Amino acid sequence: MSPMIPDPENYFRGFIPPRDALLLALEEEATREAIPIVGPVVGEFLYILARAAGARNILELGTASGYSGIYLARALPPEGKLISLEISGDMARRARSNFLKAGVEKQAEVREGQALDLMASMTATFDLIFLDIDKESYAPALPHCRRLLKVGGLLIADNVGFAGADAFNREIFSQKSWRAVHLLAFLPQHSPERDGLSLAVRVE
Ligand SMILES: C[S@@+](CC[C@H](N)C(=O)[O-])C[C@H]1O[C@@H](n2cnc3c(N)ncnc32)[C@H](O)[C@@H]1O
Repeated sequence: MSPMIPDPENYFRGFIPPRDALLLALEEEATREAIPIVGPVVGEFLYILARAAGARNILELGTASGYSGIYLARALPPEGKLISLEISGDMARRARSNFLKAGVEKQAEVREGQALDLMASMTATFDLIFLDIDKESYAPALPHCRRLLKVGGLLIADNVGFAGADAFNREIFSQKSWRAVHLLAFLPQHSPERDGLSLAVRVE
């Protein structure tokens, strides 16, 4: 049997996907200002999942500067729509400006407020939901995600290696509405680089 690649973390740093000047600038800004963005590997992963799922309507919880939102919006067909929820007025403004710079302003809308409150008044159905807010809100967000996601829709949760995500991890893993996997991964330039990602499909 072939041996494992030695020093795999260093090896896999050699496969960070290329990105444009805007995304590179947002990464530099995130490092400078300690904004916890998903980084280029998870960003590309989101793009791939959204494209593969043929997502037309995407809901993001936790916009920050719009970095992950740009990946998601770029995966949409021309008539597709991303709605991204953000509690910070400053971040919401910055994200709108970055969506404009990315040329996705017609498809990507930022709604300002507490994600749980905003979700409670939403009725649209989504093909994909990306969860990236404060980790203690993941479990309370789960019933809203179930209600707003179509059957067969994909729920992606970042940072499930954080203790605050424990209730979410247990609930989604045990509820019959979902089939879920939690992956512990090495994610170059993600915040943090060793973290969990949860992928789930709504089955009923
Ligand atoms: C991890 S950052 C999001 C990073 C972004 N998804 C990216 O990778 O580019 C989390 C963001 O969610 C916002 N946030 C945290 N808790 C929230 C909540 N309960 N409702 C809405 N926004 C929240 C924070 O202000 C912060 O900007």
